[in-house]
Amino acid sequence: MKRDEALACVKEQLTEQRYTHTVGVMETAVKLAERFGADVKKAETAAIFHDYAKFRPKEEMKQIILDENKSLEVLDFHHELWHAPAGASLVKTEVGITDEDVLSAIRYHTSGRPGMTLLEKIIYVADYIEPGRLFPGVDEVRALAEENLDLALIQALKNTITFLLKKNQAVFPDTIATYNALLKERQ
Ligand SMILES: [Fe+2]
Ligand SMILES: [Fe+2]
Repeated sequence: MKRDEALACVKEQLTEQRYTHTVGVMETAVKLAERFGADVKKAETAAIFHDYAKFRPKEEMKQIILDENKSLEVLDFHHELWHAPAGASLVKTEVGITDEDVLSAIRYHTSGRPGMTLLEKIIYVADYIEPGRLFPGVDEVRALAEENLDLALIQALKNTITFLLKKNQAVFPDTIATYNALLKERQ
């Protein structure tokens, strides 16, 4: 699918603000893919569709995840996590994207997972550092992403986990497992 066609498709699903975020993620993901030697076209497609399901009703996302029977563990955690696996499923059934690399980058863009692929890491980090993101700590992750994708990802995970702890919110186990796995790899 061409870039313009994909953007037009996703625009229908999103608010103006979320669409602007998506374009930022796309541009950032393409840069990261070029920098770290990933498939640029796959990075572009995964970025464009990563938040495809963001505005689906909670009940619909839940049903999609139950029907798919793949990422059931997210249902015990905050519904903010649900649009990632629900999106991977919908992008396949509604848009016709079948590339498993692209679909898994969408599926794990909020939670991460131990043993993330290069493309998954790129979408996770691009989602975190796109130019519209302004939260505390984002500049540090941006600077790390200039040189080392794993260090950027570790810092992004660390910030996310800390943020959740401070808000007294549960942390999805795979997010901690992703952090631990990356630290271990670096030892
Ligand atoms: Fe998202
Ligand atoms: Fe996003």
